Amino acid sequence: MSVNQSLKPITTSVNNKGHLEIGGCDLVDLAQEYATPLYVIDEATLRGICRDYKKAFEGYHNIKMMYASKALCTSAIARILDEEGFGFDTVSAGEIYTVYKSGVDMSKVLFNGNNKTRKEIELALDLKVGRFSVDNFYEAELLNKIALEKGVKVDILLRLTPGIECHTHEYIQTGQIDSKFGFDLTQVDKIVELIVDEYKQLNLKGVHAHIGSQIFELKSFEDEVEILVKEIARINEKYGLNLDEMNIGGGLGVKYTDKDCPPDTKDLAKVITEAMHKHSVEIPTIYIEPGRSIISTSGVTLYTVGSSKVVNINGKTKRYVAVDGGMADNPRPSMYQAEYLADVANKPENNEKEKVTIAGRYCESGDILINEIELPYLETGDVICVYNTGAYNYSMASNYNRVEKPAMVLVNSAQSDIIVNRESLDDLISHDNIPSRLRK
Ligand code: LLP
Repeated sequence: MSVNQSLKPITTSVNNKGHLEIGGCDLVDLAQEYATPLYVIDEATLRGICRDYKKAFEGYHNIKMMYASKALCTSAIARILDEEGFGFDTVSAGEIYTVYKSGVDMSKVLFNGNNKTRKEIELALDLKVGRFSVDNFYEAELLNKIALEKGVKVDILLRLTPGIECHTHEYIQTGQIDSKFGFDLTQVDKIVELIVDEYKQLNLKGVHAHIGSQIFELKSFEDEVEILVKEIARINEKYGLNLDEMNIGGGLGVKYTDKDCPPDTKDLAKVITEAMHKHSVEIPTIYIEPGRSIISTSGVTLYTVGSSKVVNINGKTKRYVAVDGGMADNPRPSMYQAEYLADVANKPENNEKEKVTIAGRYCESGDILINEIELPYLETGDVICVYNTGAYNYSMASNYNRVEKPAMVLVNSAQSDIIVNRESLDDLISHDNIPSRLRK
């Protein structure tokens, strides 16, 4: 079993006070010390999945592991992934700058994205990122021009849309033909010819694709690898090139609820390498860039229970319990109808259970974190621990309703350290400006 198949951080237990504990830290104590809402990241779980990935591919092939930093990008997380030997898939100046300032070797960074700005391209070239994944004709021309101005050559991959529809939420599918990302296979010859004949600053190393996120069916990866391998062989033969890199993106799923059965990293490695060998084409370097499956399981969010309300619908009662966070710190339930599981940190084993709906504190009816979950009877002041919130929670958080973003702590061996400070009210107004004619 690999870590992405676990619902909870691997260090989760109940301590002798009857409280939930992660990374040797009592969650009730963490809530008291740092206040809530609070993102908690378990370092052992994070390093555990990194090692699962490395072990899964060991002995198979030259695999380069990249972490898709869009899932959660903070300086401390970048340090851990760097220590584990991962490179970074980045999609903005902000992500590039974060990993750069964290001391990452920039040759291990890939810059990806469907509308990179001139400013971002300039920063990426100045900081010497290792690869650009070129997404479209406009970008190829712009990148070549800027590289010429700077007198540098750029190693690139071509972002392709392999035409694979995998079974996941429609907003997080990316490999199908009707997608805003990448060149579809009918456009490949045109862009390769432009690179060979005109864009002399661009050094084409290989191809890149990403077919979607929260994928459970390994067959989708098998199809993707087969399409990319064939495409590389075709380009090499037709243009006398020597493309030798294939980046297959991320996408491996995680377990949010008991309904989810994501595959093991070992099975993923097997499918990928076997699909490649089927075509007896050797691709010397394969990149894989998981985000969610690296960071999701290690993260939980703590909330404190406040108000509650009982409604009566056609003779049936329903109890809403409101917590001090919601759609601004975790937009996934309202955006993708994502489901989560939770425990009550101060009484996880209490048998007096009820079915409740966990509502957020934001001014929107759709701000429901968990619809109908069975939990120990909830009272004001209880601490709820929502599992699997490491990926795409903080990274998609907002200040909706002008609420401060939560803090994040890293836990390991009974020690907790702040890795993102809680925003203050002054932080919230720090970018505001009142024109002089309106000042008091
Ligand atoms: N590589 C590329 C080019 C990507 O676009 C993505 C994710 C990844 C790698 C990482 O995929 P992962 O291993 O995390 O599935 N906000 C959505 C997920 C959007 C994913 C976008 N691309 C969510 O919360 O479900």
